[in-house]
Amino acid sequence: MPTAVSRRRLLAGAGVLGAAAACGPAPAAAPDAGGSVATHGETQAGVDRPAAAQAHCDLSVWDMSTVDGVLGRLSERITALTAGSDRLAGQPPAGLTVTVGVGPRIVRAADPALPGGTDLPEFPGDRVDDRHRGGDLLLQVCGDDPVVVALAVTGLIGDRDLTLRWRQRAFHGPVRDDGAGRNLLGFVDGIVVPRGPAELARQVWLGDPRGATIAVVRRMRLDVAGFLALPVAEQERVFGRRRDTGEPLSGGGPDAAVDLGAKTADGQYLVPADAHVRRAHPLTSGSGLMLRRSYNFDDGPGDQGLLFVSFQRDLRTFVATQHRLAEGDALLRFAITTASATFLVLPGFTRDRPLGLG
Ligand code: HEM
Repeated sequence: MPTAVSRRRLLAGAGVLGAAAACGPAPAAAPDAGGSVATHGETQAGVDRPAAAQAHCDLSVWDMSTVDGVLGRLSERITALTAGSDRLAGQPPAGLTVTVGVGPRIVRAADPALPGGTDLPEFPGDRVDDRHRGGDLLLQVCGDDPVVVALAVTGLIGDRDLTLRWRQRAFHGPVRDDGAGRNLLGFVDGIVVPRGPAELARQVWLGDPRGATIAVVRRMRLDVAGFLALPVAEQERVFGRRRDTGEPLSGGGPDAAVDLGAKTADGQYLVPADAHVRRAHPLTSGSGLMLRRSYNFDDGPGDQGLLFVSFQRDLRTFVATQHRLAEGDALLRFAITTASATFLVLPGFTRDRPLGLG
């Protein structure tokens, strides 16, 4: 067990104790011309900045023997690495971001009332062993240069108090103007997400602790070959969108909202009852909207899929949505979840106020 850590010690570094936010954190910044994404600020990088997910990601989940010192050491290393230190072998940071979250066990030890203290439940069909369920620390390292990402991970790990549970390297295809890119099933992913400061403040960022958010990570193995063997029209019915443009099957063009009520002349739903976008729609789940920032992975034949990553201010948004999917989403016939965890992504930090420590 980690030594008990007070909420003050876990979060004081961000200067957020008791601070109920009147509005959300500042808008996300784009990378500068040298490829740097702001590391310091009210929120951590890698959630809504840069605006579109980078091409490469290395996500790992760790157990902590103690919290003492770990977050402070990580803060220093992240600050140095993202500034393009020698540990990047002289390479520019190329959009490098590091995002740190702590698991429910650590959160509960700090303050059981804090958001993020609830474990993710097991869902029907999950095939997750103990090692791939939960965990104390999330390290999400992303960037546009895979060499830089690998060097950054090398510079971050090796802490005596951390033990690796699992790790996944993943990638993102080219993105459209709205930040969405294609997944391994060939469909545009990331269209319906909270956008802009007001919506992000409403759906993603916590007011207390200000600048924190709840992450969900699910490694979903996909039957890519089985899905691609379906006729394209059938693939489109599975998602409820066109493969080429991403237009909803309810029509209106690629930018149109999904119309769940739209029907054919003979009364059939244009977006089928078991289509993914219907099952996952906030109107179906009765929940908020999550910021999905997923990556693809390919670990060889039969082990390809989606490294699903979402950020939301309330874990119930994910849980309610996942339950609606489990009840009858055609897409889940092609998916098996093999890792599952949730983390409190700590508020942003600065040189003077390290992650979660005073
Ligand atoms: C099996 C792996 C998955 C794949 C390949 C996938 C892919 C997609 C695609 C292509 C879309 C339509 C475009 C878009 O709006 O981004 C979509 C929508 C969405 N997905 Fe998934 N998804 C997967 C799993 C999940 C899971 C596990 C959740 C959450 C429990 C989820 C939540 C959503 C939501 C909320 C939408 C937007 C629905 C709307 O309002 O239109 N997805 N997904």
